[in-house]
Amino acid sequence: MSRSIPIGYALANLPRYTSYPTAPHFGPLGEAEYRIWLSGIRPQDPLSLYLHIPFCRSLCWYCGCHTSVTRSADRIARYGAALLKEAALLAAALPAHAGVASLHLGGGTPSTLGAAGLRSLFAGLRASFGFRPDAELAIELDPRVLDEEIVAAMAEAGITRASFGVQDVEPAVQRRIGRVQTEEVVARGVGWLRAAGIKAINLDLMYGLPGQTGAQVAATARLAAELGADRVAVFGYAHVPWMKPHQNAIHTEDLPGALERLRQAETAEQVLVAAGYRAIGLDHFARPEDPMAVAAANGTLQRNFQGYTTDAAPALLGMGASSIGGIAAAGYAQNEPNERRWVAAVEAGELPIRRGRATTAEDRLRRHCIERVMCDFALDLAALPPALVAEVRPALAPLEADGILDLTPDLLRLTAAGRRHVRHVAACFDGYLGTGAGRHSAAV
Ligand SMILES: C[S@@+](CC[C@H](N)C(=O)[O-])C[C@H]1O[C@@H](n2cnc3c(N)ncnc32)[C@H](O)[C@@H]1O
Ligand code: SF4
Repeated sequence: MSRSIPIGYALANLPRYTSYPTAPHFGPLGEAEYRIWLSGIRPQDPLSLYLHIPFCRSLCWYCGCHTSVTRSADRIARYGAALLKEAALLAAALPAHAGVASLHLGGGTPSTLGAAGLRSLFAGLRASFGFRPDAELAIELDPRVLDEEIVAAMAEAGITRASFGVQDVEPAVQRRIGRVQTEEVVARGVGWLRAAGIKAINLDLMYGLPGQTGAQVAATARLAAELGADRVAVFGYAHVPWMKPHQNAIHTEDLPGALERLRQAETAEQVLVAAGYRAIGLDHFARPEDPMAVAAANGTLQRNFQGYTTDAAPALLGMGASSIGGIAAAGYAQNEPNERRWVAAVEAGELPIRRGRATTAEDRLRRHCIERVMCDFALDLAALPPALVAEVRPALAPLEADGILDLTPDLLRLTAAGRRHVRHVAACFDGYLGTGAGRHSAAV
């Protein structure tokens, strides 16, 4: 039987480690340095592309994404044209490479581009970059902003995977988060995608929402399983109103406490595992045959700005306002976040990089440790420089005493009960924690 872990761990605020160093430690970075990084891409390197589309039809009160509300067709069309121009500029800056292995359209809600916008975007992307035949092309969707014409355009574009935001199926919770959508709307969207040949379906659920109960989390997880989702992400609501003022529509006193959040996360896990899903990392579940479950089983799961991923490309190129990319051997680069300034920079022929961080060899070593801990819940200490192991051991010792991990001279492994607190273990390898800006969301 697992020992109970002190509640203090669930109360701490820590980074989610979708990068290392984390975004609060980025500083000014410009086009000239980024171009040097790009020139280091090798002919055998596959590419990964991330395109950010920051538009939604309405704003969900909990949303932590970089997005805004618009119905202006002109504004969206201008943004789509700027994305095509940015793709052409970026492609011209690249040396020989091995083609696009993975593409992610994120947001916001990328389907706001509409069927014609998606068709021209993919025609332009395919003209700018070669796509590998086995490329995974993924898109984030809001089931409320979808029709059969958009689904047909997605299928024509070669999209292979789609994720829907579901959050919680209970209407009372939906009213308290400013996002009302029926189960039928989700089921209809899943049906359209499958009929069009887009077979890989992800569903995003949330816990820790205002007024949410374990029973509602369980009902939502059951629906995800009934719909046959290939992957289910179960995100803990990150309440960061100091960064996202619209979250003030959700009152802190209506939120479940740390213990209840833990229980809700465990409830979702129990339902999904009982339905045949494999638990992966901090917040993902996948059918055993899904590539993410396969990657988790063979130790090749990765973590990037989208969270857990199977994408191992050494160059992730971001496009669109606020997008972040990374060149594994060089560093992270973030585009201008302001939509108007991003469009203006691209229209002026600039690669609109504004912030980022060159990584040192030590950063890359610590990133490796953090990524393996976040993905595998284990780390081969014998393969690390002894000085780093000697440095982190004193920080790991209390976590071992509190039942979060087991340590041998050669191996660090989280206990089953300790997995929810994986961010605490990752933080032991963070050389910058507490050394600069950055206020984070709850660690569970
Ligand atoms: C870009 S949205 C998904 C696509 C689409 N816009 C939608 O909402 O259906 C990404 C997902 O991030 C999750 N999310 C958004 N804000 C969050 C927050 N503050 N804390 C935790 N998860 C959040 C939600 O599950 C959401 O569906
Ligand atoms: S959750 Fe999705 S639809 Fe809602 S505001 Fe955020 S990005 Fe837009």
